[in-house]
Amino acid sequence: MVSSLTFPQKFWMVFLFAWVVKADKVFDVKVFGAVADNKVDCSKAFLDAWKEVCAWEGGSTVLVPKGTYFVGKPTEFIGPCKGFMKFLLEGVLKAPTSLSGFADTWIKFRYVDGLLVSGSGTLDGQGHSAWQPCDPKCKTLPANLRFDFVKNANVRQIHSVDSKNLHINIYACQNMNVSSITIVAPEDSVNTDGIHIGDSTFINIKHSKIGTGDDCISFSPGSKNIDVADVTCGPGHGISIGSLGGNPDEDSVMGLMIRNITFIGTTNGVRIKTWAPSESNIVQNITFQHISMNNVRNPIIIDQEYCPSRTCDNKSPSKVQIKDVHYRNILGTSASKVAVNFVCSRSHPCQNLELRNINLLYTGKDGPVSAKCSNAKGISMGKLIPSSCLN
Ligand SMILES: *[C@@H]1O[C@H](CO)[C@@H](O)[C@H](O)[C@H]1NC(C)=O
Ligand SMILES: *[C@@H]1O[C@H](CO)[C@@H](O)[C@H](O)[C@H]1NC(C)=O
Ligand SMILES: *[C@@H]1O[C@H](CO)[C@@H](O)[C@H](O)[C@H]1NC(C)=O
Repeated sequence: MVSSLTFPQKFWMVFLFAWVVKADKVFDVKVFGAVADNKVDCSKAFLDAWKEVCAWEGGSTVLVPKGTYFVGKPTEFIGPCKGFMKFLLEGVLKAPTSLSGFADTWIKFRYVDGLLVSGSGTLDGQGHSAWQPCDPKCKTLPANLRFDFVKNANVRQIHSVDSKNLHINIYACQNMNVSSITIVAPEDSVNTDGIHIGDSTFINIKHSKIGTGDDCISFSPGSKNIDVADVTCGPGHGISIGSLGGNPDEDSVMGLMIRNITFIGTTNGVRIKTWAPSESNIVQNITFQHISMNNVRNPIIIDQEYCPSRTCDNKSPSKVQIKDVHYRNILGTSASKVAVNFVCSRSHPCQNLELRNINLLYTGKDGPVSAKCSNAKGISMGKLIPSSCLN
């Protein structure tokens, strides 16, 4: 077949082949000095591989093959790069147990436009010794994985375990799809949120499993146009918007679609919380639908008097306006009698909350399930257990 081609045809085939191979070249971190012995610090080898790939015309792949690699320093993969970047993680990365030399980051991607992070590998933050109760003063601890100012990115399959702090932080990012990942930390670990999003737009999170000691997914100011679907949460504190209103000039939270979520044994299901007293802000156009609650302590909750053990004065109300929040098709069991609890602001009552087809049964025997509202306005539709308290 090939021998029947003319010389120019063969020439072009070889040329094309060489070009394709160049575009797809894989840079194995072992070639740059990484050793899979869980002893040698591989951070420099990883960064050297990234630098080479980042400068490669057309982009390419940094490969971390199977094996266990010790990554002993904060390691930041920084763009912009010449082409689409792939980081293929097949191995296990181990963080040091000590905190020396670390601030808020273990592994970070920054200023990259066009990125795929995938593979069956694991980021192991070895957080056990770092999980100390710290209120009101917390030491800065490293997150397993941070994305700062990243655009057009996909994160798939990888596992994150035992981060010293939150597991995955998405900050100032645009157009990112996170799918089929798993995040695991013990139920009693401190501040180990699964995914934390802030100042980011068009983020999709799909088909993932998150069980930690803190929020499953949390949204801070500036989270907009976010779609979360098909995620299992538990153990942990559930999905949380907030805490909001903590700072002047913080951006709003808008356009969140949270659907097809299963909560198992979490302290909260879907929660919105704002500080009291607080600065002004807006939470608007939020939908929670097709949600299954399994033994969840506070399945549906708005808390505008959020003021945990620190010294704040919740006698003055929150100035965060919450409106257009839809709760649809939420079924399952509540571990407390108050399955729906809306504590809204006296000065800025919640507007246009919608309860539609809610069926939450109390797992205890000491009374019926109920809904509690204060300063909550909205509409109720369909079958509602507990019956609605909105007005
Ligand atoms: C993320 O998924 C959405 C919807 O499937 C798609 O339109 C978008 O292009 C994807 N983004 C990236 C960076 O692949
Ligand atoms: C509400 O948010 C969704 C995304 O969840 C978005 O598609 C829709 O356009 C928003 N609606 C309004 C009125 O802004
Ligand atoms: C969510 O669940 C509904 C009802 O079970 C189903 O019709 C829909 O396809 C699901 N969507 C996703 C994105 O999983």
